[in-house]
Amino acid sequence: MLRTVAGGAVRTLAGSSWPSGLPSVLPVPSRSASPSQSPAEAHFHSASSSEAGCPRVLITGGLGQLGLGLASLLRKRYGKDNVILSDIKKPPSHVFCSGPFVYANILDPQNLREVVVNHRITWMLHYSALLSAVGEANMPLARAVNITGLHNILDLAEEYNLRLFIPSTIGAFGSTSPRNRTPDLCVQRPRTIYGVSKVHAELMGEYYNYRSGLDFRCLRYPGVISADSQPGGGTTDYAIQIFHDAVKTGKFECNLRASTRLPMMYVDDCLRATLEFMEAPAESLSMRTYNITAMSFTPEELAQEIAKHVPEFHISYHVDPARQAIADSWPMSLDDSMARKDWGWKHDFDLPELVTTMLNLLGCDTRVAQAN
Ligand SMILES: NC(=O)c1ccc[n+]([C@@H]2O[C@H](COP(=O)([O-])OP(=O)(O)OC[C@H]3O[C@@H](n4cnc5c(N)ncnc54)[C@H](O)[C@@H]3O)[C@@H](O)[C@H]2O)c1
Repeated sequence: MLRTVAGGAVRTLAGSSWPSGLPSVLPVPSRSASPSQSPAEAHFHSASSSEAGCPRVLITGGLGQLGLGLASLLRKRYGKDNVILSDIKKPPSHVFCSGPFVYANILDPQNLREVVVNHRITWMLHYSALLSAVGEANMPLARAVNITGLHNILDLAEEYNLRLFIPSTIGAFGSTSPRNRTPDLCVQRPRTIYGVSKVHAELMGEYYNYRSGLDFRCLRYPGVISADSQPGGGTTDYAIQIFHDAVKTGKFECNLRASTRLPMMYVDDCLRATLEFMEAPAESLSMRTYNITAMSFTPEELAQEIAKHVPEFHISYHVDPARQAIADSWPMSLDDSMARKDWGWKHDFDLPELVTTMLNLLGCDTRVAQAN
């Protein structure tokens, strides 16, 4: 069965507490100035809508795999002009024209402060990071962006009383963590700079929450699979590339072993989880850092599911020892029962839905393949 994808219609969010002044059904109309409004009137209108409860959102690192889909979802919910996308990369013109975009370098606290003040930001979703494989390839930069940058973000969020979301990852666990149904609370001894920096982010955010009441919220995402954006250099990237290659060439060379089981999630589930979690009433959160997951599979199982639609599809293996070592230290599945219990997390996409959706989005006519 096909599901709605990010950027398409968005469903009512179950179990959410809506900011005052917002209806419980998406989308919220755009609050941009009408042609008859003066800029001052437009500003006043924007200010009153914000003060009525609509968050003013800043997304850092917004031009990566996840940021654009997140901005699209949040803009449907809160209005185009209330969601500011930022990055240090130059945005393509369709992104620049789709809503507010600013340059924001998380290593430059003055630049960040100006963005927060000038745009009257109330929520920050901090997506800037160097991911696992690229982080190992450039450790000093990963340390700077993922740790020094994080400190800048935390200080700013505390100073301006922002609600702060930081995504963590299955990479925050290590080989000494339980690998099956890894719980929220357990030993975390990762051996990548990415994992170490994410454990640091989890602990620092929780510390700021304890120390000064910072509204810090963190989800440990599994590998996230999307069709319309490039992966950022993580260990689960194969699970995206495999779809592109299946559609283009009918074959794929995998850099992980056939039996490497990792937790995964379709991007729509990931972004909806983030929005629902951001809107969850603080009193419903018994923790500040939650696991979320949808499915776990191996490259072999994924290839078998793809072959149901692309019968000639062939997978081969050429293992990258660096990525394999990282994958072998990560959980095979996550226990996300606390997220399900506390704020009603529920995934929509299992493996068959994921594969059908990805192949359809990439232009593969799965119905024909199924009929054959
Ligand atoms: N994609 C996944 O599967 C996945 C899984 C788990 C967690 N996450 C987390 O979600 C977040 C977003 O992931 P993604 O896949 O979109 O990452 P990505 O690597 O695709 O994008 C990261 C962005 O950060 C930006 N950036 C780098 N240095 C910066 C700086 N100094 N200032 C501002 N921006 C800077 C980059 O330009 C890039 O656009 C990350 O924190 C990541 O750890 C992602």
